[in-house]
Amino acid sequence: MKDFIIPDRDFGTPAAKSKQMVTLSIDGFDVTVPEGTSIMRAAAEAGIQVPKLCATDSVDAFGSCRLCLVEIEGRNGTPASCTTPVAPGLKVHTQTGKLKQLRRGVMELYISDHPLDCLTCSANGDCELQDMAGAVGLRDVRYEAVDTHFRARNTSGEANPLYIPRDDSNPYFSYDPQKCIVCSRCVRACEEVQGTFALTIEGRGFDSRVSFGAKPTMRWRRTASPAGLAFRPARRRPCRKSRSSRSARPRTP
Ligand code: SF4
Ligand code: FES
Repeated sequence: MKDFIIPDRDFGTPAAKSKQMVTLSIDGFDVTVPEGTSIMRAAAEAGIQVPKLCATDSVDAFGSCRLCLVEIEGRNGTPASCTTPVAPGLKVHTQTGKLKQLRRGVMELYISDHPLDCLTCSANGDCELQDMAGAVGLRDVRYEAVDTHFRARNTSGEANPLYIPRDDSNPYFSYDPQKCIVCSRCVRACEEVQGTFALTIEGRGFDSRVSFGAKPTMRWRRTASPAGLAFRPARRRPCRKSRSSRSARPRTP
């Protein structure tokens, strides 16, 4: 019951299992964590929250949203903290002016392809996108509205041919492309937690969508189970060659 009231803290990436410990500095604080820990998790264990969208500690880091960028003294660029492991003596900064500007720019792009209906959205108040927009201080979106998939009508009031409505056809979940930011968490959860490989991302850019990873008739079949419908591996059929060679084989009594 407690979990419904106080959600468990999310450290961003799974815990490392190494017994070897590594000490580094994050925002001026010394942090000691097992070797193989991500910088994001090391920061979270020290009470420093790095903004994130695609990372969660129940699946491996993927590094797709680019919101968790950090600066490391002596290293070029701004690596993603979820996919960068700790190393001894690193000096990491998570809150510089450059990082704030980069994160605001990333969030601005996400919000430019997202309906601004927070007040009527069922996730209002319990939405990571909303939380992160606030965390990075995004107030305005400079990009003009374009006819993307989430508008039923285009800017001149005509039906938008790119519009994709919400899909409620699956008995277990609804998929609303308007709200999806293509973080791939659901795809990774299917692979790493459930082991079903049921979902994948298809398309590129504005056309990226979550879709079934494999057609049920190809690798999976839907079956009735006591718990309801379920996807199970389809029965393997012998290939034509082995079938014919089997039938040609003389039967033994
Ligand atoms: S539907 Fe999947 S990919 Fe889209 S936002 Fe949700 S978890 Fe991420
Ligand atoms: S949280 Fe690191 S790239 Fe998304």
